[in-house]
This record gives sequence, structure tokens and C-alpha cells, in this order.
Amino acid sequence: MTADNAPVQAQQPLLRLRGVSKAFGPVRALTGVDLDIPVGQVTALVGDNGAGKSTLIKTIAGIWEPTEGEILWQGKQAHFRSPSAATAAGIATVYQDLALADNLDIVQNMLLGHETLRLGLLDEIAMEKTAKQTLADMRVTTVRNIRQPVGSLSGGQRQAIAVAKAVMLNAKLVIMDEPTAALGVSQTALVLDIIKNLASRGISVLVISHNLTDVFQVADQLAVLYLGRMVSSGPISGYDTSSAVHWMTTGMAPGSTTNGSTAASQARTGPGGLTDG
Ligand SMILES: Nc1ncnc2c1ncn2[C@@H]1O[C@H](COP(=O)(O)OP(=O)(O)O)[C@@H](O)[C@H]1O
Ligand SMILES: [Mg+2]
Repeated sequence: MTADNAPVQAQQPLLRLRGVSKAFGPVRALTGVDLDIPVGQVTALVGDNGAGKSTLIKTIAGIWEPTEGEILWQGKQAHFRSPSAATAAGIATVYQDLALADNLDIVQNMLLGHETLRLGLLDEIAMEKTAKQTLADMRVTTVRNIRQPVGSLSGGQRQAIAVAKAVMLNAKLVIMDEPTAALGVSQTALVLDIIKNLASRGISVLVISHNLTDVFQVADQLAVLYLGRMVSSGPISGYDTSSAVHWMTTGMAPGSTTNGSTAASQARTGPGGLTDG
């Protein structure tokens, strides 16, 4: 055991948001958000449209700076002033449009901007090996030919390539915005497998999804945003579909008729959360 890092530090969250707020002029998109992202776990971020999910991940990914609050990365205060600063720290964000080049093949896409050179020329063999190994590590077996153009792949495979690219860049945290929204059943299964595989290798995943079936399949932790506030978060075992939906749609605990702070939301309580069965 070396002395440079105390073993107790292993329990420290990879990323920690403390009182993070983000305003766009008069619009408060996020208010006082606290969130811990543990190492090697899958955190699902859920909430209704406009709840602030995309703003939250863009704030983590260095696209927005918080108006208030702090971001701690591996225990130290971080100021990601640009997406490249966040990437350099080990945060990889896979957006819905994926930013892949359809006309380039899998190897070219994965190594784009990070090409291996040998005697001043592209080292195609080394690049192919890196790409192949990364996909194998991620247990992606459905891609037959890594020299096929990305445009010819299924949605799930494209998602796999985008994540593989992030992993190759030594990401410690992979953020995915609705990765299964446009996918069929088997492609969704592929992406969920990839998410589980990342976590099993010690990489943290923050995934936005409105599909609670997916969420309950992969998440270790749930975090619920409601009108820009983090109204509930904790181990997924503390929720079921009905309670998650209740938190998402009312911002209140199942069975409660008041949360004591937002009188306006009391009018939206509707049927309670105690409707198991
Ligand atoms: N660039 C922006 N400028 C102004 N308002 C924004 C901007 N981005 C998001 N918002 C507002 O912030 C709130 C949260 O939006 P968003 O984070 O996209 O929610 P979600 O992803 O949960 O649907 C919404 O009211 C939205 O209109
Ligand atoms: Mg969004």
C-alpha cells in the first residue's frame, strides 16, 4: 500500500455538486442542486420535460458555468470552463446526435483527432488494434467489420462506437443523454449492456432517460429533478416505478400531500403514490 493516497479516499464520490444553480436571465433552470456521483456506479437522472436534466449535464460537461454553487471532482473544487477542460479531466459526454462522421469507418471515427502516427504516417495497424481492443473490452460483439462506414451501422451500434470513443480517451465519467430514445428492443439491450460493462470496470455513468424500464434495469442510483430542484435521490432499491413517477410528476414523496416548500405543487398532487398492485 502506497502512502500517496489514503485508502479511505476510495469511498469519496467521483463528482459532487453542491448547491448548483444555473439561471438563463430570468429563467432559473437549476436551483441549489446537490448530487453525488459514486465511482463505478450508474446514476440515472430523470424528470419531466423542462426539469433541467440537459442543463445539469451541460453544467457538468463544461458547456455552462454554474451561476452559484460548486463542483467537486475527485474531492477538489473544479471549474470546467469549456467542454475540452471537462474532457481532459475525464468526463465524456455522449449527446443524442452523437457527433459521428457517417462517411468514415469505425476506426477512423474512434481515433478522429487522436490518430496514431508512425514515421509521420497514420499507423493504421495500431489504430485498428486500439479500436478492436476497446470494443472487445466493452463486449461489443455485434460489429463485424471495423472498417465499415459508421453510416451503415444500427442506432445501437452507433451508440456503442460513440461510447467506445469516450472510453478510449480514458473517461472516468461517461454522461449519456437519452441513449436509448431512438432504439429498438435489441439495440436498447446492447446499450444497456454497455452501460453495465462500463460500471463493472469502475467507470461512473450518468444517464438521462425517460424510460423507467431501462432505468430500473441499469441504475444503481436514481436522481429526480423537478422544476430545476433535486427533489429526491438515492439507491434505486428505494424506488419502484410508481414512486419514481410520483416524484417526477409532483416533486413530492409518494403519499405526502405537502412538501412544505412549494405550495403551488400541492395542486398537482393527483392520485397518491401508494397505488402498488
Ligand atoms: N440556453 C437556454 N436559454 C434559456 N433557457 C434555457 C436554455 N436551456 C434551457 N433553458 C430552460 O431551462 C429549463 C430546463 O431546460 P432543460 O435543461 O432543457 O430541461 P430538460 O432537459 O429536463 O427537458 C427550461 O425552462 C428551459 O426552457
Ligand atoms: Mg433535455
